[in-house]
Amino acid sequence: MTNHVPPGPKSAILGFDFAARFSRDPLTFLIEMTGRKDPLIYLRMGPVHGYIANAPEIVHEVLVTKAKHFQKWAQQKRVFGKFDGDGLVNSDGEFWRRQRKLVQPAFHTKRIREYADVMVAFTQRQIATWQPGQPINVGEQMAYITRNIVTKTLFNSDVAAEQQRIGECIEHIQYMAFREMGLGQMIPDWVPFKYSTAEKQAMADLDALIHRFIRERRESGEDHGDLLSMLLMAEDDKGERMTDVQARDEAMTLFIAGYETTATALTWAWYLLGQHPEAMGLLLEEVDSALRGRLPTFEDLPKLRYTEWVIKEAMRLYPPTWMFPREVAEQVEIGGYPLKVGAMVYLIPYTMHRDSQLFPQAEAFMPERFAPDAPKPIPDFAYFPFGGGPRVCIGNAFAMMEMRLLLATIAQQFRLFPLPERPAAVPEALITLRPKGGLHMAPVPRLLVQEEAHTEMAQV
Ligand code: HEM
Repeated sequence: MTNHVPPGPKSAILGFDFAARFSRDPLTFLIEMTGRKDPLIYLRMGPVHGYIANAPEIVHEVLVTKAKHFQKWAQQKRVFGKFDGDGLVNSDGEFWRRQRKLVQPAFHTKRIREYADVMVAFTQRQIATWQPGQPINVGEQMAYITRNIVTKTLFNSDVAAEQQRIGECIEHIQYMAFREMGLGQMIPDWVPFKYSTAEKQAMADLDALIHRFIRERRESGEDHGDLLSMLLMAEDDKGERMTDVQARDEAMTLFIAGYETTATALTWAWYLLGQHPEAMGLLLEEVDSALRGRLPTFEDLPKLRYTEWVIKEAMRLYPPTWMFPREVAEQVEIGGYPLKVGAMVYLIPYTMHRDSQLFPQAEAFMPERFAPDAPKPIPDFAYFPFGGGPRVCIGNAFAMMEMRLLLATIAQQFRLFPLPERPAAVPEALITLRPKGGLHMAPVPRLLVQEEAHTEMAQV
């Protein structure tokens, strides 16, 4: 061991300057910090002592080999816990291990492949409402589709009014959680008006609905073919099942974690495709030759390879979970340095994914870098949009399947064009990484695009 504290930026005012810069513009600040190239960086921000994991080996140590020395960030647990209790995202230790085992079977490939048709059908239903050339808010459209998909696959809810209400409730909850991660945490819960009447009603309604879904499944004892049925049927080593409260917390967790991330990744994929017509051309070629005019199915996925690289590359440049923290739970040495118990470790896909030593031409959109025979293989844990180790995203395969099917279904029928008056998108680091001010594009049916191209050619 060389020193007790890893290298890091110096502050004359206990890192309060860094805290201010982080809250003003976290992405620029973190790019500057990680540009130092030290594998582990000590960063104090006011009262918070932290370390940035700035090399793939360090990420691997934290997430995999020494994962048990870390826990979820107490602050995040407190905030999210208000909405999804002790669900997977918030729990730690033995309780988390048991719950993870119980939830895992719901995400087995055998089970999730059954959702492919739902994903395509819900996409189809929504794009049928698009008017040629009429700009859409891409993020909102993607979120509408992915939210309906998660409602259907989690609760098998088909009733339009019910779906609508569930959608509204979850939107409120996302917004409340976002406020709570920021200045909202300064306001104690007992303060009247902290949450609006509509927000309180949304929480109560969603709770009542989930409990009703649980009751219906318990009473019928049948598998409704949805994720909730799987949660309720799962048994641990002692043959015990989840209580209603645990099932409610896990269902709410999957609901909150399960759609915005996916929608954000898709939004960036559309943005990047709009900026790179040659990549769009390759995508369309693949989709057309793989599907020959049919809608995609689960069986088509192996043929949609370029589609998959586009999504992976979009998540490299704009990882929806741009940063996620860990808290040091017990004495541990990382990268040869002893870490302070209670300190934070920041895992930052956004900066690692843009490191030019790990990704040649790191700022360029190059989906083919994910090809298995790419000239420079991506080192393990240099690319980690879904985290890694025992706490890797449980919805990883679900999300990858969903994003490929959505992109292919839409690309088969529409071209999304950037609006000429809109400047380049700027990422905004909220809970997820979104294009600031939203992304607006004009969908034009492919048939019309081709006709226009033919007319242009005829004129030439
Ligand atoms: C593009 C889409 C998605 C991205 C980028 C993403 C990203 C992540 C990341 C980075 C983590 C690890 C966080 C950490 O270690 O602190 C995580 C965990 C998790 N994700 Fe996802 N996720 C996505 C989609 C989904 C979906 C579709 C679901 C469920 C339907 C889901 C459910 C979860 C859950 C429950 C956890 C906690 C797992 C645990 O701690 O055991 N995610 N996700």
